Amino acid sequence: MKNNMRKTVKEGYEKGNYQAQFRINKDPNKMELLFLKKFLSYLPERPDVLDLGCGPGIPLDRYLVAKGCKVTGIDISQKHIKMAKINVPKAKFINKDFSKIKLSKTFDGIISFYAIFHIPREEHKNLFLKMNEILDKDGVILVTLGASGSGYIEADDWMAGARMAWDSYDYDTYKNMIIHSGFKILKTAFEGHEGADEYHYWVLAKKKWHLPSGT
Ligand SMILES: C[S@@+](CC[C@H](N)C(=O)[O-])C[C@H]1O[C@@H](n2cnc3c(N)ncnc32)[C@H](O)[C@@H]1O
Repeated sequence: MKNNMRKTVKEGYEKGNYQAQFRINKDPNKMELLFLKKFLSYLPERPDVLDLGCGPGIPLDRYLVAKGCKVTGIDISQKHIKMAKINVPKAKFINKDFSKIKLSKTFDGIISFYAIFHIPREEHKNLFLKMNEILDKDGVILVTLGASGSGYIEADDWMAGARMAWDSYDYDTYKNMIIHSGFKILKTAFEGHEGADEYHYWVLAKKKWHLPSGT
């Protein structure tokens, strides 16, 4: 049920073995590298980067740290935070819900890979507004989103008998949402193809103006 979504997601990642199944490689793949390099090209030297739903920290946070970024990762799964601390000892990791956390500092860049679709889609606009708020002037976001507009979906046996839940709009809705949250879109791409389970919309966008949250 959608009102138990966070519990379903958290338990799913505690039970399943995401790293072994999806993140065996310690280095980013071709598409990740392309976008990460572009992301870094807009940031200052030694940028502060926030990773929402960082998972076990490889390969993305590991790459960013190697490129001189000061990385803060947030994840709802205690197991993933423990793994991330081992995988990327030079980064800082916080075990919290990224949609609820209050941060005392601002960031030059924010990444979020395959995580935003794990919170109810009615909250996605507010999350982009929050990203806008905690980014410094000219800050940049790099996010991967569900692209199919499938709405709320639950799988009973996602991994190792664990349940999992996703909730997404279609890519056009995200494009407008990101623009109306105060960003200029710099680059987009699709991963997978329409109709497939793994159909994702990648967006690199730059903070254009500041909007108060709730707008
Ligand atoms: C598919 S994994 C992606 C992990 C990592 N970004 C990567 O690309 O390898 C999704 C991650 O988002 C985390 N997550 C889901 N909902 C979250 C929430 N509300 N707050 C913080 N983390 C969350 C999960 O625990 C999981 O580690």
